[in-house]
Amino acid sequence: MTRKILVVYATKAGATAGIATAIGAELRRGGHEVDVCEASGAGPIAKYEAVIVGSAIYMRRWRPEAVDFLRMHVHELRDRQVWLFHSGPVGPDKDQAQAMPRKVARLARKIGAAPATTFAGRLEPETAKGFLAKRIAQGNLAADSREWLRIADWANDISSAISAVEHTP
Ligand SMILES: Cc1cc2nc3c(=O)[nH]c(=O)nc-3n(C[C@H](O)[C@H](O)[C@H](O)COP(=O)(O)O)c2cc1C
Repeated sequence: MTRKILVVYATKAGATAGIATAIGAELRRGGHEVDVCEASGAGPIAKYEAVIVGSAIYMRRWRPEAVDFLRMHVHELRDRQVWLFHSGPVGPDKDQAQAMPRKVARLARKIGAAPATTFAGRLEPETAKGFLAKRIAQGNLAADSREWLRIADWANDISSAISAVEHTP
């Protein structure tokens, strides 16, 4: 059964946008109707039955646009299936799951969402934004560590979970 799903993301250098797009593509393959958009540009969410929210992590924090999105829609999100992810670790640390920032953990609890899944990120000189990021991207952390198969598997599990829920028009 086709469901309307929103995938919202917050990014600085584009890596998280790529992950959100891949999640959207997988959900569409599962037969769902999907919109993928930046957190700052997201419109009303009433028409969606499920929402996936993802953010890049910088200095252990989520991007403010993603936090604002959760905060702004906390009541509506409580009535929907919600999944969270964040994209961060790169290079040798790429497999280290990252804790949710306290603010985000608090919102996730209010919404009733499970803790965010960590996906490895990307930090490369060509895409890094800002002096510090460009500097770090010169070192041994520089890599595109995004794991497309893992991302597709995660989205696929979500696709099945959404299909399994009885439809309430
Ligand atoms: C200055 C700076 C700070 C970062 N801090 C973290 C961090 O605290 N935890 C983490 O897992 N990744 C951290 N990263 C890695 C980024 O989150 C990673 O590159 C991410 O994929 C970028 O996403 P974006 O391209 O969507 O902005 C940091 C990167 C930079 C440049």
